Amino acid sequence: MSYRTRLLGAAAVFAALSAPAFAADCEVTHWWTSGGEAAAVAEFQKAFDALGDDKWVDGAIGGSGDTARPIIISRIMGGNPPCATQFNPGKDADDLIDAELILDLTEVAEAEGWRDIVRPSSQMDSCTRDGKVWCVPVNLHSAQWMWTNRKVYEDAGLEPPKTWEDVVAAAPALQAKGVMPLSAAQGWPINLLLMEVMLPALAGRDAYVDILEKKNAEAAGGPEMRKVFEAMDEARKLVDPSTIVPQWNDAVSLVITGKAGANVMGDWAQGEFQVANMVAGQDYDCLPGLGHSPMLNTGGDVFYFPKNEDPAVTAAQLKMASSMISKEVQVAFNLKKGSLPIRPDVDLAAANDCMKKGLAILEDPNNIMPSPAQMMQRETQNAIRDLFNEFFTDPSMTVDDVQAQFVEIIENAPE
Ligand code: GAL
Repeated sequence: MSYRTRLLGAAAVFAALSAPAFAADCEVTHWWTSGGEAAAVAEFQKAFDALGDDKWVDGAIGGSGDTARPIIISRIMGGNPPCATQFNPGKDADDLIDAELILDLTEVAEAEGWRDIVRPSSQMDSCTRDGKVWCVPVNLHSAQWMWTNRKVYEDAGLEPPKTWEDVVAAAPALQAKGVMPLSAAQGWPINLLLMEVMLPALAGRDAYVDILEKKNAEAAGGPEMRKVFEAMDEARKLVDPSTIVPQWNDAVSLVITGKAGANVMGDWAQGEFQVANMVAGQDYDCLPGLGHSPMLNTGGDVFYFPKNEDPAVTAAQLKMASSMISKEVQVAFNLKKGSLPIRPDVDLAAANDCMKKGLAILEDPNNIMPSPAQMMQRETQNAIRDLFNEFFTDPSMTVDDVQAQFVEIIENAPE
């Protein structure tokens, strides 16, 4: 072999060895498996893959957050972590952070000014623990929305409802035509209806926070809360337990297909109406706060990045966090997700009527309230979820029964 060839060969080897860290495959776990959710997460993946050789490996987990969270937590605790994972803003990752299993994002958060960009500040507060930043907030979702199919009411000779009371009043006419007045899905969606929507709408924001965040057991057993349980009793009479479906998007699809008039669900339902090519304000309506007090809670989604030995993976994780909060990705993702962007400095010209309603409500800080995940441990949320599902599906359970058991949960709830 000539001297020249040997020299060129050595140069090629040196170049390869001194090349930057190799590209990384980044497995991302989440529970976005409905039509709208999948369309949204594809925007995150497209944006990340376009940045270079690192690749988004999709780790969708079927079911819901209640199914996915324990799986994700056990993988991280068990030493088989994904590269990135979705969680809700709140307390769910606290033990993982305390176990030093989560990548500290403080440096990139400060370099990019997340604290100044993100609104409301509660969402950065949920990602900040002991003065450090542990997750990137990516959207705002709120639970307090009712979705109605206009044609269902018009075909029954009725005005499309503007409030919860209109939905209740329309029930007999819809039932006479074999249409469900209200669709419902088992598990956390029933808890969303009763705890996240009816409680604040009927007892008020302060009662919602006083009972769930401050664990005020006296208020939980009081007359205001009793009125909410009486309204819940009215709600459960609108739903034949045999029509309760497995997943939240099944209940939304009953409204989309005209088999049900209304469904109470978070604004992630938007994504389903979009995939069905339905137009807000024409084919369907979105009524915040049951059409009464349009307060919204600051649910939504954040991403955590479990620590990894490989510097190539760590570099990819930081790149992904930046991409998710960037202006263009915020618009592309949130328009498909039906959520509101986590930053106000983006152009949402394509936002539909419902998103515009949500943005207008969020302008007034008095209309904003925390989400359950920001106020309670997951074990408390699960206990309330199970109690309210039992009440909703067992007509022999009285208002007295459910209120007494609710008081017990609040009395024993950890901070
Ligand atoms: C929530 C999540 C939303 C939506 C919903 C239903 O926890 O924040 O993004 O996906 O679950 O899956």
